[in-house]
Amino acid sequence: MINYVTAGESHGPQLTGILTGIPAGLTLDIAAINAGLAARQGGFGRGNRQQIEHDTVTVTGGLRHGVTLGSPIALTIQNRDHAHWHAIMNPTSPATADNTLRQVTRPRPGHADLVGGMKYGHRDLRNVLERSSARETAMRVAIGQICKQLLAQLGIDLVGYVQQIGQIQVDSQASLSVAELTQAIAQNDLRITDNAQVADIHDLITATKKAGDTLGGVIRVVATNVPAGLGSYTNWDTKLDGQLAAAVMGVNAMKGVEIGDGFAAAASYGSQVMDEIDWDAENGWSRLTNHLGGFEGGMTNGMPIIIKAAMKPIPTLYKPLQSVDIQTKAIQKASVERSDTTAIVPASIVVESVVAIELARAITATFDGSKLSRLQAMVQAYRAELQAY
Ligand SMILES: Cc1cc2nc3c(=O)[nH]c(=O)nc-3n(C[C@H](O)[C@H](O)[C@H](O)COP(=O)(O)O)c2cc1C
Repeated sequence: MINYVTAGESHGPQLTGILTGIPAGLTLDIAAINAGLAARQGGFGRGNRQQIEHDTVTVTGGLRHGVTLGSPIALTIQNRDHAHWHAIMNPTSPATADNTLRQVTRPRPGHADLVGGMKYGHRDLRNVLERSSARETAMRVAIGQICKQLLAQLGIDLVGYVQQIGQIQVDSQASLSVAELTQAIAQNDLRITDNAQVADIHDLITATKKAGDTLGGVIRVVATNVPAGLGSYTNWDTKLDGQLAAAVMGVNAMKGVEIGDGFAAAASYGSQVMDEIDWDAENGWSRLTNHLGGFEGGMTNGMPIIIKAAMKPIPTLYKPLQSVDIQTKAIQKASVERSDTTAIVPASIVVESVVAIELARAITATFDGSKLSRLQAMVQAYRAELQAY
C-alpha cells in the first residue's frame, strides 16, 4: 500500500521524499512531474521566492531506466534559495553568533510560529517556520504527480483548480470532463475556467497586495472513472471520504473540506440531495445526479469524486498584525517573511496531488500493487464484476 514521508526545511539544502508502494513497471514521466512542480510555482499573486526556485525533481532510488522497480522511490528537490541561507540554515555546522542571524521572535498570527515554539521549546521561531512553510508542499506535488500517473494507467483522471478567490466566484463548469477542465485552466495564470474573470481577479490581488493584505479562496477537485467500492463502510477509519478529508486538511492553510454539495446539503431536503439510482445494460450502475460527490457509506459509488477545499488567506501580512516578542514579552508587530498575496493557485495543484495520493493508496490497499500489469488486470476484472452485479 502506498505511503510516503517528506523531510527538509524551506531554506535548507533540499526537500527529500520517500514514496513506497508504487507498483513495479510504471514508466515515470519526469517531465510531467516537473510540469506539476512548475504549476505549483506559478500563478498570479505569488511572492519573489518563486523567481529564485526552478523546481525539478531528481529520482535517486526505486527507478531503473525510467521504470519503477517496486522498491521505495527516493526523490529530491533542491532549494536554490539555500545559496543565500547557506550559513544560517547549515544542517551540521555548530551555532555561532554569525550563523544564527535572522532570528524570528515575533510570531505571526495564523502561522505555526508560536505554538510550534511552545511545543518544541524553540526560542528562535525560524526552527518552526522553516518546516511549517508550504515549501514542503513541492515534495507532496512530486509524489502526488507520480500517483496521478499511476491512476492514469488505471483509467482514472483528476484535476484540481480554483473556484473562488477572495469573494470572486468562478463558474466551476461542473459538466466539463477532466480533460476539458485541464485545458480550460491552462489558458490563464489563475487556474480558473473562465478567462473573462481573469482581469477582475488580477485587479483584486494587486489591490490587496498594495494594501499589505492577503486572500484565500476555494479549490475544486474532480476525479473521474473511479471504480465503485474504494474505501469501506465497515469501520470509521476505513471510510475513504474521511481519509481524503484528512489529506486535504493536511495541506497548509486549508480550513474546510466539502464532499459533493457539502455544507449546502445541510439546508436542502433529502429529496434534493440523494442521487437516484439508475442501471442500463451498457453502462451498469449509476446515479441520476451527483450531489453526494461520489461517496456513499465512505465508499466511492462510481460517480465522479467532487471535493472542495476552503483555503484561509495567507497569514504573513506585509502590514503585520499584533504579536508579542517571545524574548521581551513586549507587544509588537508580527515579523514579516517574504510571502505570497494569495497562494490559492499553487494550492489547487497541491490539493489535486494529495487527492491523487489517497486514491492511489486506496487502490493499492484494495488490490495487489506489486506489479502494474497485474494491478491493471485486477482493476479491469473488478470493473467488469461490478458492471455485472
Ligand atoms: C502553496 C501554498 C503556499 C503558501 N504560501 C504562504 C506564504 O507565502 N506565506 C504564508 O504566510 N503562508 C503561506 N501558506 C500558508 C501557510 O503555510 C500556513 O497557513 C501555515 O503553515 C499555518 O498552517 P495552517 O494554516 O494549516 O494552520 C501557503 C500555503 C500553501 C498551500
